[in-house]
Amino acid sequence: MAACGLDFGTSNTTLGLAAGPRPALVPLEGANLTIPSAIFFEPGRQALVGRAAMAAYVEGTPGRLMRSLKSVLGSSLLEETTPVGRERIRFRDVIARYLAVVKARAEAAADTSLDTVVHGRPVHFVDGDPEGDARAEDALREIARSIGFAEVSFQFEPIAAALDYERQVRAEEIALIADIGGGTSDFSIVRLSPERHAKADRAGDILANDGVRIGGTDFDRRLSLGTVMPLLGLGSPMKRPDLDVPTSYFHDLATWSSINRLYNAKTLREVEEVRRDAQRPDLIDRLYTVIEAERGHSLAMEVEGAKIAASETGRGGVDLDWVEPSLAADLDRTGLVAQTGELSRRIAERIGRCLAQAGLAADRIDALFLTGGSTGLPHVRAALVAGVPRARVVDGDTFGSVGTGLTIEAARRAA
Ligand SMILES: Nc1ncnc2c1ncn2[C@@H]1O[C@H](COP(=O)(O)OP(=O)(O)OP(=O)(O)O)[C@@H](O)[C@H]1O
Ligand SMILES: [Mg+2]
Repeated sequence: MAACGLDFGTSNTTLGLAAGPRPALVPLEGANLTIPSAIFFEPGRQALVGRAAMAAYVEGTPGRLMRSLKSVLGSSLLEETTPVGRERIRFRDVIARYLAVVKARAEAAADTSLDTVVHGRPVHFVDGDPEGDARAEDALREIARSIGFAEVSFQFEPIAAALDYERQVRAEEIALIADIGGGTSDFSIVRLSPERHAKADRAGDILANDGVRIGGTDFDRRLSLGTVMPLLGLGSPMKRPDLDVPTSYFHDLATWSSINRLYNAKTLREVEEVRRDAQRPDLIDRLYTVIEAERGHSLAMEVEGAKIAASETGRGGVDLDWVEPSLAADLDRTGLVAQTGELSRRIAERIGRCLAQAGLAADRIDALFLTGGSTGLPHVRAALVAGVPRARVVDGDTFGSVGTGLTIEAARRAA
């Protein structure tokens, strides 16, 4: 029996084994320590997770892909069902099935059974709703118990990242930890030192904790609505004066966790009606094509890819050839910043709130520790750095720091 740390992220998942001399993330898919938080249900077969789930969908295997499962925690959707083949499954059970596979993979890779887990959690699952936060944590606890964890406890994701970072700290310092993920942006201000690292109770060293429900998937949504959805008819007029095409289809299609809602005969009939009354039926045809072929996730993956390319190289493209020959959208860094600057500002605003909570001026922060995939967005990174201009900037393990920190915490709690 062993303890583990589990970082079930909106976009990616890691699990670390607390046994042994050092905390170590366990390979979950081949040699990969990180897997996409994705599950694919194929009728009559075992569900696939991670890269295999994404690949099955991309290859056009009939079935249902689900991503961004964590974003339904804390919402009423959790108890709702979603059609999977001929049955309907509650979202809660979808998450349980996904995490059960992750647990089984880790047990096989580590050759031990896991009975104790320290689960990561964002500072806020839901903004401004402490009850929603509590409900989300309760749901995760019940799910963890239902898949065979006898002992379940939680740690805030940025505190976990701080524990990972602290292993490289040589003298006492005050650090701002920024974990900008797929679903949430989380911050902690912590006092760190090699001596403190050995202590079990760190409550006194946590000077501030705050977060906001904005992450990479929100950037994807904005970019999709701004660059791709207009090509599918968003914002185009109906024949009746002063009326545009209804927006809800485009919002669902641009939101990872809502895409599957569109895949049904009723929606297709509605879109056909919209097409009849639209001034640009050619655009609505494209929308129809995407929904009918259940290619909404392909679209979202294209947009996410363009976001990452624009972040890394300054330029990204969304290839829509499969929707209509030669159809494409371009995204450069200026467009990325113009369309998502507001999100970046709302993330960085949290730094001011954290400093106020800690009662510290910005120049008292010695180090800014960055983790989470969305720290790769250049304007987000710049806004974080500007919030604590005198701090040394330390890049963590982008996709592994939180999981490693949760594993350190699991080892401590098990000791
Ligand atoms: N190079 C990059 N530039 C910009 N964004 C990136 C880059 N690489 C990954 N991302 C984005 O990072 C996000 C995933 O980050 P991460 O794995 O840290 O999130 P998570 O831990 O799953 O989510 P959360 O902690 O919010 O629940 C995705 O939205 C992805 O598109
Ligand atoms: Mg995360």
